[in-house]
Amino acid sequence: MTRNARKKSRMKYKTLKGLQDILPSEIAVWHHIESKARDIFRNYGYKEIRLPILESTDVFIRSIGETSDIVEKEMYTFQDKGGRSVTLRPEGTASFVRAYVEHHLYNDPAPQKFYYMGPMFRYERPQAFRYRQFYQIGAEAMGVDDPKLDAEIIAMLSKILGSIGLAGLNFEVTSIGCKKCRPDYRTALKTFLGSKLDKFCGDCQRRYDANPLRILDCKVPACIESRKGSPPVLDYLCGECKDHFESLRGNLELLKVPHTVNPNLVRGLDYYTKTAFEVSSENLGSQSAVAAGGRYDSMVDEFGGPPTPGIGFAMGMERIIPLIKDSVSGAAGPDLFFCPLGAAAADKAFLLTEQLRTEGRWVEMNHEGTSVRSQMRKANRIGARNVIVIGEEELRNNKIVLKNMLSKEEISAALEAKELLNLISSRK
Ligand code: HAM
Repeated sequence: MTRNARKKSRMKYKTLKGLQDILPSEIAVWHHIESKARDIFRNYGYKEIRLPILESTDVFIRSIGETSDIVEKEMYTFQDKGGRSVTLRPEGTASFVRAYVEHHLYNDPAPQKFYYMGPMFRYERPQAFRYRQFYQIGAEAMGVDDPKLDAEIIAMLSKILGSIGLAGLNFEVTSIGCKKCRPDYRTALKTFLGSKLDKFCGDCQRRYDANPLRILDCKVPACIESRKGSPPVLDYLCGECKDHFESLRGNLELLKVPHTVNPNLVRGLDYYTKTAFEVSSENLGSQSAVAAGGRYDSMVDEFGGPPTPGIGFAMGMERIIPLIKDSVSGAAGPDLFFCPLGAAAADKAFLLTEQLRTEGRWVEMNHEGTSVRSQMRKANRIGARNVIVIGEEELRNNKIVLKNMLSKEEISAALEAKELLNLISSRK
């Protein structure tokens, strides 16, 4: 095979559209967000739960809703080798509720509180801040329908986003009613939409009978225009939902969580009841939601568990990262970098590197027999804090000079692990 033919036959693989690699140079900000979130989850009593990425397709259809965009258009669904229909999770709540019921987690004292972190998959049209694989940090609190819990979870979300370093966020809340008040609202909405249904897209016309509330979530400009002036759901709440919403607002004020009521807030998932909320940033263009959630008081029941209320949220990592990445510094370099000159020095450096790593230090050594100058350049590039050159003389005298790369200060020391450990631990 000629060189050209070989070159041609080498395939160039790339990430799939809408997916992205997260490289080591970008990981510091991910760790920053995850660790701040974990700290605050701990203060509020939330425990981590890790769920499979693949579920039976029914798990999502039943909860998110047959007429939702996610189920109709966006799920990665396929048959496994056993002929079962399985789906890459498009969100975490349905998987969570499946696990909650499967493992009888409702038997623990309420509220039971959980959090999760991980990738979700939606076959959406990729654009800025919208991916086909994206990461969420989510939280779910179960077993209590006291509006104080709604306020608490929104306050916790606000605390997490604040501690991560996000500012200028808009918290919007609403209530979308419950099984009791929704039929009246549905009738009112259908009456309003019915007279001009021909102005709506095919999807909306189809959803008119099956689930007219979904029409409020359609992104087609003509539909947005035509549904203007539709009756607000807040006007149709039953007494219980109205009281719940008022109490939520009172509790948010008590906790000093700034928020606005948005009666037009619509969620793209069917399982919500009563409280719904969204947090947005004006710096993200059209994909402005950094986090969203709400109450889902019927889902556990529908999944075969005892009637159990629930509330939760999920925040989107890819929407948060662009807002804070410039203010989070990357990982520091190694505590020590050895530049050995010759095979005997390399053996000594190799042994010391291992010994100091065992003592909990990050130590690296150079492996190619290059000049001191190029080794120092490399130490600089990887951000080493201290550098030691080991040549024949250093080996003979068992003495080295430790150079601090920041202060440029130099200290003589014995070529022994214990002494080096003390030195690199005490110096900045
Ligand atoms: P969601 O509104 O579908 O809710 O998603 C929550 C957040 O995930 C969004 O606010 C956004 O930040 C992020 N997100 C969604 N889709 C994408 C995408 N294609 N690319 C990048 N980020 C995205 C849920 O998923 C519910 N499970 C939240 C919840 C938990 N409700 C109750 N408990």
